[in-house]
Amino acid sequence: MSERKRLAAERAVEFVQDGMKVGLGTGSTAAFAIDAIGRLVKDGYDLLAVPTSVISERQARELGIPLATLEEAGTLDITIDGADEVDGNLDLIKGMGGALLREKIVAYSTRQEIIIVDDSKLVHELGTKFPLPVEVVQFSHGRTRMFMEELGCKAELRGGAAPFVTDNGNFIYHLHFEHGIRDPYELQRKLDDIPGVVEMGLFLKMAKKVIVASEQGIRVMERV
Ligand code: A5P
Repeated sequence: MSERKRLAAERAVEFVQDGMKVGLGTGSTAAFAIDAIGRLVKDGYDLLAVPTSVISERQARELGIPLATLEEAGTLDITIDGADEVDGNLDLIKGMGGALLREKIVAYSTRQEIIIVDDSKLVHELGTKFPLPVEVVQFSHGRTRMFMEELGCKAELRGGAAPFVTDNGNFIYHLHFEHGIRDPYELQRKLDDIPGVVEMGLFLKMAKKVIVASEQGIRVMERV
């Protein structure tokens, strides 16, 4: 599987051109893309990159990739990031790596969001293989959990008794929907209405390209 992740990542990096501003994703697949971007920089490409997590920032620094904040960089040309699930509309669940908030902020400021996955991430309906990660503020998070569960899911605090804390100081709940997420657009609206919810891992209409590596080779799917 990690070989497929690497192949998808390297195909995506072929879209990076000299002089571009590039968003760096988070996770095991995105890490292969950061490695390949590091090689471009070594080859003399003039790139400016914005990382989506502390861990990706560290990797990029070690590779000598020039970094900037999103405010400094402004709109990015390309961001290359992984995903946990991809459906037939190229809508996504992201965030099992815990970086969904920064990933979404960066994706929203990017002209071309390229998602790289192996074929195990393809689903008919979101929420069937992975839960939906939701970032919530720590204050009164038990109440936030109750309101999320009223939407028909089981909400599990990531890390349990020793909760995982995001790069932004928040907690993550994993929402388990027994039969998947029928209408991700409606769910997004309802979660957005709950105070305490900072952001969720639904990335709807955000991916421009999804690059899938499978036994058959590489497939590039494009949103029209
Ligand atoms: C990080 O928060 C996530 O959105 C990752 O992009 C996603 O979990 C995919 O991770 P892998 O590439 O490690 O499967």
